[in-house]
Amino acid sequence: MQKKGYFITFEGIDGCGKTTQLENAYKMLTEQGIECVKTREPGSLEIGSKIREILLNYNGEVSDNCEMFLFLADRSQHIDTYIKPKLKEGIVVLCDRHTDSTLAYQGYGRQRDVEQLKELNKIATNNIIPDLTILIDINVEEGQKRAGKNPDRLEKSGKEFFERTREGYIALAKQYPERIKIVNGEKSKESVYNDVKSLIMELLKL
Ligand code: TYD
Repeated sequence: MQKKGYFITFEGIDGCGKTTQLENAYKMLTEQGIECVKTREPGSLEIGSKIREILLNYNGEVSDNCEMFLFLADRSQHIDTYIKPKLKEGIVVLCDRHTDSTLAYQGYGRQRDVEQLKELNKIATNNIIPDLTILIDINVEEGQKRAGKNPDRLEKSGKEFFERTREGYIALAKQYPERIKIVNGEKSKESVYNDVKSLIMELLKL
């Protein structure tokens, strides 16, 4: 039986289906008697929910720097007061989006300096790195279709932005092949789940 607190993140463009897959993984682990929690970025804690509200719903202008620092601020609080203590207790943490979202969206999508963002992520996370990142990859048209009719502030960013973001994720998976595993999200939900499950079972040696 595993004792280490594994940190598993789920990534991908909007509408890729990662939230459903995270729920499936949570259910599977819980049924196997493995202590785990599900969480998300941005906005899983009280401060985070206020930050999330600005990031997703604020109608006025949000500068690119402001957006970046808000995601990082949310992450710092999340890591220090929630994720780190859970991992210390030996709990498996399943997180919907984390550092790679900032690299893909703010870095590749908004065309900021990715190397600089990596350094900022290090500060925000205290160098805590996921044990496994599941990147659910789908094409942008499909993602936009699935994401639905009421786009939030980020989702209004346009097709080119999401093309760059998707390419960014794939580039990151090439840079960190040990950690980031790509799952083809265009297959059936069941088939995607089988891939997700295998990756988690392998990590936890189940
Ligand atoms: P959310 O409704 O949680 O989207 P999803 O269900 O697709 O995860 O909204 C989060 C949005 O914030 C999403 O568009 C991705 C974006 N985001 C960033 O741009 N940078 C980040 O660092 C994070 C964590 C999210």
